[in-house]
Amino acid sequence: MAVTIIVGAQWGDEGKGKIVDLLSAEVDVVARYQGGPNAGHTVVVEEEEIVLHQVPSGILHPHTQCMIGNGVVIDPVVLMDEIGFLEKKGITVQGRLFISQRAHLIMPYHKLLDATRERHYGSRKIGTTGRGIGPAYVDKYDRCGIRIVDLLDRTTLKEKLLTIIESKNKVLQRIYDSEAMDAEKIANDYVEFDRRIDSYVKDVSVLINRAVEAGKRVLIEGAQGTMLDIDFGTYPYVTSSNPIAGGACSGLGLGPTKINRVLGIAKAYTTRVGMGPFPTEFDEAFSEHIRKLGGEYGATTGRPRRCGWLDMVVLRMAVMVNGLTDLAITKLDVLDSLDEIKICTGYRTGGRELEHYPAELDLQEQVQPIYETHPGWNRSTQNARTFADLPANAQSYLKRIEELAGVPLSIISVGSRRNQTIIL
Ligand code: GDP
Ligand code: IMO
Ligand code: MG
Repeated sequence: MAVTIIVGAQWGDEGKGKIVDLLSAEVDVVARYQGGPNAGHTVVVEEEEIVLHQVPSGILHPHTQCMIGNGVVIDPVVLMDEIGFLEKKGITVQGRLFISQRAHLIMPYHKLLDATRERHYGSRKIGTTGRGIGPAYVDKYDRCGIRIVDLLDRTTLKEKLLTIIESKNKVLQRIYDSEAMDAEKIANDYVEFDRRIDSYVKDVSVLINRAVEAGKRVLIEGAQGTMLDIDFGTYPYVTSSNPIAGGACSGLGLGPTKINRVLGIAKAYTTRVGMGPFPTEFDEAFSEHIRKLGGEYGATTGRPRRCGWLDMVVLRMAVMVNGLTDLAITKLDVLDSLDEIKICTGYRTGGRELEHYPAELDLQEQVQPIYETHPGWNRSTQNARTFADLPANAQSYLKRIEELAGVPLSIISVGSRRNQTIIL
């Protein structure tokens, strides 16, 4: 379909990178709309594993145009490193990657404030990726952010930076009892980005709308996931943007009437990194077992991911708030050796059942998942290429997920490689 949004249906790391890369073979444009280098999207091409943080995962297909929308927060240091890394691998980025002039920048003080605030919060910390995401979005909404366009005007940039850093230094010193930053040095370092970034800067909203009008196939790549959404996630244990599908419209300047398909990505179980409620979380021993089987370590920070059973309350929320048209289930193969597999169909609390994910944090922490137990299949699914190749118990597990989700499954992933995929 002409314009497809890919969104994470859980707490991130659902395998969006693999699916975006896979679908990129047949699209013309791949665009990111929110988040920043907190994302770690893994693509496996033959023997090689490539982790992308800011560049859309479609970049590995030489025919695609890649765009970074206004809703993304960009760390220019990380971005330039990422471009350098890709170019070194022989992947042409220049002329194929376009960055919105309206996107906001992550500056060194955002990273410092992110880390300082987490330290200050102690046991109440969020467990952020430390990439400066929250403070960068705060400045955007506080209307004191630096945008990509500002990089192109050295004099104004320097003036703006000196003023902002002076006020950030007051916060750091007086509130957090921390060291001040060298404003001159930061300003001088960042004026250097004008020449390096100039050729990538475009009006992405115009470009993407033109592409849609010309009938090009567009894939819009979400980062993070529905449960990390600033509005619908497990607030305050969320990220500072809108990963849900609606974010794609504001984060790219593309109207909702242009969207044809919203594909949700979910693992066949659940993981999350960082702090916050996780109703179906395993005990530590079983979490460790699944972590080993699924290689569940953060692609950005290397932190061990917390693991749990598939949660249909979460998935139904994702279907609803994203308006999902279909679902991809990834990492089915990770469950291959289990005797029994559970699906959480609802929550119970104080003698009543909850149909929807609650907003109250204490309730999110208290709810008791209601499980149904499915028999495992004890056979490798990694070589399955059609639904019929899957063991009968795996087929029933997937059919049950489809039934509970209320939207069709369209893709099943049984390994990290491109060909380890079943298209339904
Ligand atoms: P993303 O952030 O949603 O793109 O996901 P990540 O890249 O952070 O994490 C997903 C991990 O699972 C990566 O290491 C992928 O290579 C891997 N992966 C994706 N799909 C599958 C699958 O079907 N089976 C297995 N075993 N691994 C997968
Ligand atoms: P991808 O795109 C999983 C989590 C962090 C933390 C919370 C806030 O790879 O799925 P932030 O640095 O954004 O302020 O951290 O969000 N988080 C992710 N978890 N996958 C991600 O991205 C994430 N990006 C942020 O662990 O709990
Ligand atoms: Mg990830």
